[in-house]
Amino acid sequence: MDSHLLQVDAETLSAMPRSRRARLINSLPGYKSGMLVGTYESGAANLAIVSSHFHLGSNPALLGMIVRPDTGKGERHTLHNVLKTQCWTLNGFRLESAAQAHQTSAPYPKNRSEFSACGFDLEWKAGVDAPYVKSSPLQVGCRLREHQTLSINGTHLLIGEVTALYCSADAQRLDGSLDLGKLELATISGLDTYSAPGEALRFGPAHVDTPLQPQ
Ligand SMILES: Cc1cc2nc3c(=O)[nH]c(=O)nc-3n(C[C@H](O)[C@H](O)[C@H](O)COP(=O)(O)O)c2cc1C
Repeated sequence: MDSHLLQVDAETLSAMPRSRRARLINSLPGYKSGMLVGTYESGAANLAIVSSHFHLGSNPALLGMIVRPDTGKGERHTLHNVLKTQCWTLNGFRLESAAQAHQTSAPYPKNRSEFSACGFDLEWKAGVDAPYVKSSPLQVGCRLREHQTLSINGTHLLIGEVTALYCSADAQRLDGSLDLGKLELATISGLDTYSAPGEALRFGPAHVDTPLQPQ
């Protein structure tokens, strides 16, 4: 056996200490989006770092995220607020704000807003009953369209329709896409690593037996 190769099977995985296994498996989906989720309910604003965002469709414009189950050990404020108010905001951040963003994952009580505890200013905009992070380079407002508790492990799938989007107009390319590098958005790997993506390559649509067109 190659001594430099890490090999793990299902048995080893289930025998692993809980937090070691969680760190290992959380590394597997690669680089993920890092967005701060803003919600509000009964006078309390909440902000939480979430990295499980994904694109589900563009017409309607749908984004999904996965929220951990309520195990009874701690309150799940984001989940509770979204189910009450049916909306949330997504707020990208730069690497220089990573420590503050990470701090929002601490189990603050409901009456202590992560906005003030972690040093983020709150911004209200018409159309969404949830606060944005002021000066976030990418702000997205979402309205809940579907909620499912996944039977496999009790995690919650929240699907939102994008109802608002704010960022610097300079970041939009001629083809409509956003240059996330220009917005300087940080990305996340595992549960603890924040980075700023470096080099990038872009290509046009791929066709069979046709050379790719760099963009
Ligand atoms: C890098 C990172 C990514 C995270 N991603 C998620 C996630 O995708 N879903 C989730 O439910 N919690 C995620 N968390 C944990 C939440 O941030 C944490 O449980 C937080 O306390 C939830 O706050 P709330 O109770 O105010 O909603 C993540 C934490 C970190 C540090």
